[in-house]
Amino acid sequence: MNVQESLALPRARDTIGRITPYVPGKSIEEVAAEYGVRDVVKLASNENPLGPSPRALEAVRNGAGEIFRYPDGASGELIALLAERLDVPQDHLVVGNGSDEVIKLLAEAYLEPGDEVIYADPTFSEYAYVARLMGAAEIPVPLDGEWVHDLEAMLSKVTDRTKLVFICNPNNPTGTIVSHERLERFLAALPPQAIMVCDEAYVEYVDDASFPDSLGWVREGKPVVVLRTFSKVYGLAGLRIGYGIAPPYLIENIRRVKEPFNVNRLAQAAACEALRDEEHVGRSVRLNAEERERLRQRLETLGCTVTPSQANFLWVDLGRDCRPVLEALLQRGVIIRGGDAFGQPHHVRITIGKKDENDKLLRNLEQVLL
Ligand SMILES: Cc1ncc(COP(=O)(O)O)c(C=O)c1O
Repeated sequence: MNVQESLALPRARDTIGRITPYVPGKSIEEVAAEYGVRDVVKLASNENPLGPSPRALEAVRNGAGEIFRYPDGASGELIALLAERLDVPQDHLVVGNGSDEVIKLLAEAYLEPGDEVIYADPTFSEYAYVARLMGAAEIPVPLDGEWVHDLEAMLSKVTDRTKLVFICNPNNPTGTIVSHERLERFLAALPPQAIMVCDEAYVEYVDDASFPDSLGWVREGKPVVVLRTFSKVYGLAGLRIGYGIAPPYLIENIRRVKEPFNVNRLAQAAACEALRDEEHVGRSVRLNAEERERLRQRLETLGCTVTPSQANFLWVDLGRDCRPVLEALLQRGVIIRGGDAFGQPHHVRITIGKKDENDKLLRNLEQVLL
């Protein structure tokens, strides 16, 4: 197409040209077809290897006949359950089509062009994406030498245009956490126009007692949004459902920009049952804790450096370019996430799987590395 023709095309917003679409890792089906391998193991997207609660699956089956009806736009049953479970009033909650959507709604409600969004580097890519989408300035701040949020450096970037500050806790892809004490001091130092967003997608896996009680800050009415999801320990990533908890003065505005029926009825029904099945959550967390430690030790005997993790994945320094390693693993039917996606090509992020899945990874990684 020549320039003349392209000038005649409808013009997208300037900021859209700067957005690079998210590139997900390969799916099990793609790897099986492309490499001709069977029994592909996927340890790349931090999903629950045990899958969802059987009660959630039953709710989906039971609800299937009703899909011709619009869902409850207010996600009322789920919000009532969450309010009770989390000890917050119902007007402190918003449910989204994944916590991804809640992040986007928050950005749509609060970001003006020129506002500033601060987040760590590396961290979850959605924060930079929504900043760019809204024409806000992206302010990434490198993690410290231990792959932990450098709150002092983040604070030094705060200005009177700072609107959102994202703290991914535990951080994706490193699995590291920020303690209550440090984050409380950080929150107190933020200017009044800034909102601190605690993305706690992996909170259920945390066993470090210094982890923040971020809901306490929400109950006190501080400008804090806590994000949680049903995609990780609850095993419902494919249904897309997550939520935000914040004081009503923030929730009101987030609810204002959401689509009327943003969360489908099967997701709502499954989430309610997943929440009720505490035994399944407990089993999933125990498996993760055991396998996280075993995998860490075994990876270290292979010469890797593993960052202590509070999540369901490990941030692993291979000491060499990860890309040939990723390719060799794909040929053997194992999918993990390359650190190159996070600007760290010597690292990989490995989701903790079931014991046999982790064993398959270890066997193959040993062949590839040694
Ligand atoms: C830190 C973090 N936040 C949010 C999400 C998105 O979760 P959801 O599936 O609820 O959109 C992810 C998914 O990987 C994540 O790692």
